[in-house]
Amino acid sequence: MDEVTRGARALILCPDIRAFKYDLDASERLAEVEGLALAIGVVIQHSAILPVRQMQPNTLFGSGQVENIAIWCKQYECELVIVDGALTPIQQRNLEDRLKRKVIDRTGLILEIFGERAATAEGRLQVELAHLDYQQSRLVRSWTHLERQRGGFGFLGGPGETQIEADRRMIRQRMGRLRRELEQVRKTRALHRERRGRAPWPVVALVGYTNAGKSTLFNRMTGADVMAEDLLFATLDPTMRAISLPGVEKAILSDTVGFISDLPTQLVAAFRATLEEVTGADIICHVRDMSNPAHAAQKKQVMEVLADLGVVDGETGISEIPIVEVWNKADLIDDETLDELRAAAEGHSAVLLSAATGEGMDDLAATLTGMLTSKAHELIITLPVSDGRRLAWLHAHGEILSEEDAGEGEDGPLRRLTVRLNPKELGQYSALGS
Ligand code: GTP
Repeated sequence: MDEVTRGARALILCPDIRAFKYDLDASERLAEVEGLALAIGVVIQHSAILPVRQMQPNTLFGSGQVENIAIWCKQYECELVIVDGALTPIQQRNLEDRLKRKVIDRTGLILEIFGERAATAEGRLQVELAHLDYQQSRLVRSWTHLERQRGGFGFLGGPGETQIEADRRMIRQRMGRLRRELEQVRKTRALHRERRGRAPWPVVALVGYTNAGKSTLFNRMTGADVMAEDLLFATLDPTMRAISLPGVEKAILSDTVGFISDLPTQLVAAFRATLEEVTGADIICHVRDMSNPAHAAQKKQVMEVLADLGVVDGETGISEIPIVEVWNKADLIDDETLDELRAAAEGHSAVLLSAATGEGMDDLAATLTGMLTSKAHELIITLPVSDGRRLAWLHAHGEILSEEDAGEGEDGPLRRLTVRLNPKELGQYSALGS
């Protein structure tokens, strides 16, 4: 997209539209979009939730709100306005005219993130395709506007052709070419997967919300040196690498595209195709940025996508494939919160670590090895007696070695259980939610 964003001083607006049903409440959505904006290197000067009783076709926001936004832009010296919602091309243009600033909407922001991060040839092609599709819709609708600007003649691109038609034709041609290239890349990938399917190595798939730290973890786990046999993966698909784990001959680590809630329709298909890899994994590593205030909301989104893919049962939250949660960015978390997280991690297959510093990586390797070699885990789990769902699940699936009262907690009396779970059960237990 345009070069404006990285380093730009931005005003973030989260419209709270009355007629809409949102999954997350407005403050969670604001935290989420702030995270996305930071991920693209924007400097947030100010952010606000704006209630919208009635959507204005010309500017989305009411005129009083637009005046306020203009004041904020000046007051906070913003160059860029990010609106966390879908703007029609007309609304976007009108807002830009009134504010004298560049305005981007959620789709624009997400396309920019995907554009910057797409690691594979396929990803890059898909993002470009989605981007052109987005541009094309903007072109169509600004047709009359552009024509007026050009004096109303509209015969600028050659005999019988307006500039806008020429632009559209160019975009269509480029999209056609991209689709053909994509087809080719997909064929290669299918072939590649088939070949890998015959290999006896287990696959560990990294999933997680965008900016959670998957790529950082991927690089740390795979190291810089690419072994000869990995070149196959490296050249065909840079998101697949062999890793060595103690006691496991070899495993394949696969990185996936970052999850984002409310994905623009143009990107849904692209996203799906990339995620197919996850459904064939032996273990899913769910990387979470525990330093992000919106981490619980982000987990919800990730679990929903996994449910859509058929990996997790939407009703029960039970996963077909064992899930290890990687609680990342421990280095950014204060000691008190770290202690709480450590205690909470005990009862889950969660590993607290920092992909940036490398601290805790051994624990992750040990957990993965344990799961891959099918060693049963002995866990001590303390739960409130009122958590009947989990207690019942443990009794039904685990081997209970001992059980006792454990005093009073915030949610009433507690029970402490020593339970043996096999890796699959442990993954299922973790997926029950935290
Ligand atoms: P997507 O490509 O959007 O899916 O992101 P990702 O999940 O691959 O995240 P990535 O590894 O690109 O990391 C996002 C940002 O977080 C980068 O700026 C990393 O340097 C930073 N980061 C990742 N792990 C850690 C960590 O443990 N501690 C700190 N402080 N920063 C981290």
